[in-house]
Amino acid sequence: MTIEPIQEKLANSVDSLGLQFIQRHIFICAEATKPECCDRAASIEVWNYLKRRLRELNLDQATSDRPSCIFRTKANCLRVCHSGPILVVYPDGTWYHSVTKEVVDRILTEHIIGNQPVQDYLFLTHPLPPVNN
Ligand code: FES
Repeated sequence: MTIEPIQEKLANSVDSLGLQFIQRHIFICAEATKPECCDRAASIEVWNYLKRRLRELNLDQATSDRPSCIFRTKANCLRVCHSGPILVVYPDGTWYHSVTKEVVDRILTEHIIGNQPVQDYLFLTHPLPPVNN
């Protein structure tokens, strides 16, 4: 049996996931081990909806028309732990509270596509500052 070198496996992951095309990365707290900020089932529903809408809007993969994609990650907990589900978009550093399916639609349409953060649910804007060594 041939063992695939680790770098080759990782390069395959980069390609298959389109990591080199990520434009924004969305994290949402969902299915938390200790659901402190919202109902666990509701957070799972919102997470599944986010994945589905990214796919339906063709935002989850780079295309010839749009050579960038939106990556999404389900975080167990984003440490805010109230008024959730909590969702953060990087590199913008925009933090949203009380995220429902309707709010997901607004974030995708107004913020991700339209570049206008959804003020009604925004509680912090903090793009990560450059690291000074
Ligand atoms: S459980 Fe949602 S932020 Fe902690």
